[in-house]
Amino acid sequence: MMMKDKGPDPARHRSPGLRTLAVHAGQKPDASTGAIATPIVATSSFAYDDFDAGVARFSGKAPGYLYSRFANPTVAAFEAKMAALEGGDGAVAFSSGMAAICSSLFAVLSAGDEIVSVGTLYGGTEGIMRNLLPRLGIRSVHAPTVDDLQARISARTKVVYVETPTNPVLGITDLAAVESIARNAGIISVADNTFATPCLSRPLALGVDIVVHSATKYIGGHGDATGGVAIARAELVEAIRSTGMKQFGACLSPHDAAMLMRGLKTLPLRIEASCDNAEEIAEALNNHPAVERVHYPGLARHPGHAVAQRQMRRFGGILSFELRGGLPAARSFLDALTLVTQAVSVGDTDSLACHPASTTHSAVDEAVRRQSGVTDGLVRMSVGIEDIADLLADVEQALVKASLYSGARS
Ligand SMILES: Cc1ncc(COP(=O)(O)O)c(C=O)c1O
Repeated sequence: MMMKDKGPDPARHRSPGLRTLAVHAGQKPDASTGAIATPIVATSSFAYDDFDAGVARFSGKAPGYLYSRFANPTVAAFEAKMAALEGGDGAVAFSSGMAAICSSLFAVLSAGDEIVSVGTLYGGTEGIMRNLLPRLGIRSVHAPTVDDLQARISARTKVVYVETPTNPVLGITDLAAVESIARNAGIISVADNTFATPCLSRPLALGVDIVVHSATKYIGGHGDATGGVAIARAELVEAIRSTGMKQFGACLSPHDAAMLMRGLKTLPLRIEASCDNAEEIAEALNNHPAVERVHYPGLARHPGHAVAQRQMRRFGGILSFELRGGLPAARSFLDALTLVTQAVSVGDTDSLACHPASTTHSAVDEAVRRQSGVTDGLVRMSVGIEDIADLLADVEQALVKASLYSGARS
C-alpha cells in the first residue's frame, strides 16, 4: 500500500521549548553504562591508542579528548546545554563568572584597543574595566546610557560591554539599540545575562555577539557551585576557548559542571517562582513608608520598564531598595531578617540580601558608586523560591526595625 505523503511532521519540525531544552539538551544516556545523569568524568588526561593516534588528536585531525584543561565530557555536556538555552553555536565553561568575562574580553582585545561599557556593572567587572584593562594598554571608556554610546566610540573601539539588568540597581540597557550601534561601527558586543538568564532574555537572538554568565548564580541556582560560561557563534567560541582554557587555564571542574547541569534542569521553574515572589515583594516595598525607592524593572515607574517589557519575558527575581534612614536603617533591616540570609550572591533557591555599598561594590570609587545609585541606604535582595507569605512576613518585620531610623538619614 502506498503511504500518503502527510507533509512535514509539525512535532519534528518545531524547535523544543526552553523547559525541554533545560532538561534534555546536551545529554543522552551514557553509551557504555546507560546512566541517564551525565557521568562525572574525573580525569585530567585521556589515553590514546598509539603514537600516531596521539599525534592525530593533538593536531586536530582526529576527534577525541586529550586533557581536561582543553575539554572534558562532563563540561562539554554543560556547554552544550548552555549553547542550546542561549541559542548560540557553542559555549565555553569557566571556573567562575569573572573568568568567563576576562577570557571573552582577552580573546578579542589587544593593547591599543578601546572598550566602551554602558551603564552600571557588577563591582568585579567594574574593576576589570577601570584597573586591569588599562594596565594592559587597553583604554576603557564609560557611557552612562545607550544615548551616550555612539559618541564614545572611536576608530580604536573593539568592544562594547553591557550588563542588563545591572547589579545592584537593576538598570535596564536596551540591547537592540546597543547591538545596532555596535553593528554599524563594526565592533563586538558582549552582554552579561546573569540576572535575566535565557529564560527571561536572549541577547544572541537580538544580534549581540557574546553572552557571558556567572553560572554561580541562577544557572547553578543552589549556591553550591562556582562557574562561568560564555556563549557565542563558532569562531568566537574557538577564540574564547583557546584564550581562556588553553592559555589562562580557567577551566571548570567536571564536578562543578555536573552540579551546574543539575541546576539547569529546573532553571525555568525556579525563575518563574522567583519572579512571582519578587513581584509581590516589590509591590509591598513600594508602598512602605520606610522605603524611599524601589529598583525593580517590573514597576511602572522604573525608568527601564518599557525597554524591559520589550526585551524581557518577565522582570526577574532580584530587586534593590533604598531605605529612608541611610546606613543605620540598612544595617538594622539586614540584621533583623530571620528567613532571608545575609550573603552577597544572587540567584539561589534561598532568598539572600546584602548591603552593596559595603560589600559587592565597596571597591568601586565612592563618587562612581553614588552616581550609579549605590547609596548607603541601598539593600539588594535576591528573592528565592520560598512561600511568599513567609518572605513577606520576614521583610515586613525587618522594615518595622528599619523604620526607627526613617527620620535619621545618614
Ligand atoms: C552580574 C554579574 N556578573 C559577573 C559576576 C562574577 O561572577 P563570579 O562570582 O561567578 O566570578 C557576578 C558576581 O556577583 C555578577 O553579579
